[in-house]
Amino acid sequence: MNETKSPFIFGRKAVGDSFTDREKETERLISNFRNKVNTVLISPRRWGKSSLVKKAGDLSDNETQKVVYIDAFSLRDQGEFYKVLATEVIKGTSNNIETWLEYVKRFFSRLSPRFSFGTDPINSFELSFEIDSVDKNYQEILDLPEKIAIDKNIQLVVCIDEFQNTATFEESALFHKRLRAAWQNHQHVTYCIYGSKQHMMSALFERQSMPFYKFGEIIHLGKIPITDWVLYITQQFQSTGKIISGLLAEKIAISVKCHSYYVQQLSHLVWLATSVIADEEAFAAAIDDLLAQNDMLYQRETDFLSETQLNFLKAVASGTSDGFSNSVVLQKFKLGSSANVSKLKKALVEKEFIEFRGKTAEFLDPAFELWFVREILKKF
Ligand SMILES: Nc1ncnc2c1ncn2[C@@H]1O[C@H](COP(=O)(O)OP(=O)(O)OP(=O)(O)O)[C@@H](O)[C@H]1O
Ligand SMILES: [Mg+2]
Repeated sequence: MNETKSPFIFGRKAVGDSFTDREKETERLISNFRNKVNTVLISPRRWGKSSLVKKAGDLSDNETQKVVYIDAFSLRDQGEFYKVLATEVIKGTSNNIETWLEYVKRFFSRLSPRFSFGTDPINSFELSFEIDSVDKNYQEILDLPEKIAIDKNIQLVVCIDEFQNTATFEESALFHKRLRAAWQNHQHVTYCIYGSKQHMMSALFERQSMPFYKFGEIIHLGKIPITDWVLYITQQFQSTGKIISGLLAEKIAISVKCHSYYVQQLSHLVWLATSVIADEEAFAAAIDDLLAQNDMLYQRETDFLSETQLNFLKAVASGTSDGFSNSVVLQKFKLGSSANVSKLKKALVEKEFIEFRGKTAEFLDPAFELWFVREILKKF
């Protein structure tokens, strides 16, 4: 039995020793926060947005600059958004109940929020509002961060994670207009907006007709480079008294295309399969383990694909990265007409199986790609 704790983290924000690289991006965010530059951070799922913003936020949080976090992932409508915004801004700018009550009295004139406290008042404090009243007076909540920042003579940074989820709200276009209209007048609050679903985020922030056009600096987060991963993996092994060669560490990173979550997960699995020195056998066992864990999910996901969609993925998995409308490719993979190819591309991007970098198609989930090659392509 191995009693040591794994040095790899996945499925939670990477913090402390598990956070690697991203030095330039961290500095950039810190500088944006300090210089009141709004930031929009976009990347596919699990590349490390939340970890990065938390890291930059922790380094920026001090006496004169406070950082507040909101996660829009589970919010269902505008009302919930306003409620969480008000609660988090109040909680994040002071840590005693007296001040919270005072803020509410001073900064809300038209709205009269209700409080709720649980057994642990500091952490379970929550505000709520009458729906009708919020719909008329939402402006008071949107301006709350600015008012508190002025009053306390501080700079506030409001970070909103999983922002793409707000596009599912009813009347989301109106909601986004309201946000933009309020935020552009704030002099003491900087916003950091981040999320996945690249096409949705890009549409919101990069299209001229959209309310968030030119809202701030847009950062498309890249992958952590292989050299950093190799260093990180070898060090983490070492820190627990195990050894892995640079070559094998590199193989781990390459096999999951340097995807942050999967590099950590696969490293963890190799680490588990290793007693002292990691070898090819441990690596093979780790890959088997990774694919077995996802087998049911991937099976189910592919079950929902049409025959031609599946064929398109087969083409990508066999190394075709562009030129899908080429007649040889059309025939070989039975993709139908070239008009059909555009439809296939669109559907598979929307379902988040693949993405295009320029004209080049890539699988979004590198573990799915490994599984697909093994389970579908090899039996083709
Ligand atoms: N800087 C980093 N160093 C090492 N590992 C990282 C780093 N950033 C992210 N990871 C790994 O990737 C995983 C996902 O990171 P994170 O949750 O920050 O990504 P995300 O882009 O916010 O994902 P989601 O799209 O699901 O919100 C983490 O659990 C961790 O395993
Ligand atoms: Mg995240």
